[in-house]
Amino acid sequence: MKELGIVANGAIVARNGRIAWVGSSSDLPIPERNSGCETIDGAGFELVALPGLVDSHTHPVFAGSRVDEYEMRAAGKTYQDIAAAGGGIHASVRRLREASPDQLASSTERAFSEFLTHGTTTIEAKSGYGLSTEGELKILRTLAALKSRSRLEAIPTFLGAHAIPEEYQNCRHLYVEKVIKEMIPAVAREGLAQFCDVFCDTGYFTVDEARAVLLAAREAGLGLRIHAEELGHSGGARLAAELGARSADHLEWIDDEDIRALRRSGTIATLLPGTTFNLGLPQYPPARKLIEAGIPVALATDFNPGSCYTLNLQLILSIACSQMKMAPSEAITAATVNGAYSLGISDRLGSIEVGKEADIVLVRVGDYREIPYFFGVNHCVVTIKRGEIVFNRLEKL
Ligand code: NIG
Ligand code: FE
Repeated sequence: MKELGIVANGAIVARNGRIAWVGSSSDLPIPERNSGCETIDGAGFELVALPGLVDSHTHPVFAGSRVDEYEMRAAGKTYQDIAAAGGGIHASVRRLREASPDQLASSTERAFSEFLTHGTTTIEAKSGYGLSTEGELKILRTLAALKSRSRLEAIPTFLGAHAIPEEYQNCRHLYVEKVIKEMIPAVAREGLAQFCDVFCDTGYFTVDEARAVLLAAREAGLGLRIHAEELGHSGGARLAAELGARSADHLEWIDDEDIRALRRSGTIATLLPGTTFNLGLPQYPPARKLIEAGIPVALATDFNPGSCYTLNLQLILSIACSQMKMAPSEAITAATVNGAYSLGISDRLGSIEVGKEADIVLVRVGDYREIPYFFGVNHCVVTIKRGEIVFNRLEKL
């Protein structure tokens, strides 16, 4: 994860949306210099070109704000206290069910454009605020509709098992059954998701419930991801390993046995330290132990209106380095090629290599380590998706 393959004074040539050449500027083949292509000249600026960032865990389709909960947490309430009082995911569910598809599409489109502005060119996007067949389909159809409206690429994940909806509190098994028998088949029929996720944690879904949902999802052809061990040590990581899930996410509470299990199953650890930070959780995930065990670690924002309202993945790199002791180089790998690998798209995204799609961001720093070092600001000045410039403030510098 520490090997970035840095090229000093580099140049990149993209053709038809793919990377055609990459190397040192002085080696740039003569025909490429004279080919009349559109050129972005970074000379005179201190710029670093990176692969477009891949944010492999987000919840971007929601309605309204939960700033009241933010204030309550600042006053000492916990995420769980607020959820038990009818806030948390339930508050977002009430608002989402009332929102029209148009309202959802326009608020999500705004967020998508902010991702691009912050150097993120691909995200994984979860449903999970509908918690009814209609509501979940509304979210996933919003994501499908945005494909033609936004240049951000969003890989959709079905998260119908995000919480037990309020109307099923006294008959939770019926909700689990609905997810399995009604929602997963509907999502699969319309081809609306590539993955299925479950919030398997203290106060949410049990290991047995999560297993039942994920087995049904696997049967329906979906890849598997799990929200695990964020609020307590509840067995989600071990379940991810048992099912050979693509990714186990959060992992604040995992132990050494869990780490060995993830290592055996080849599951990726997706860490979301922005959530740990924002909720003021008692401990960060053990990033060093995971990396030293040889587990690929990805970093993502967890962008959502409750536990982590940021879409700036650069800030997550800062938190990862200062709080989890990841090296800046490891953090860059985690937010690019490892995120892409967790989504099964690293054959075409996540690194600047000939033949891959030309997703490139230019950040205004003299040294890549300054991305996490100078924190809380947006370093991105140019974003390129599949060879097309989708954000550019270079002229304004
Ligand atoms: O990843 N943990 C579950 N889901 C989100 C929180 C969603 C919310 O609070 O709205 C998370 O932290
Ligand atoms: Fe999440």
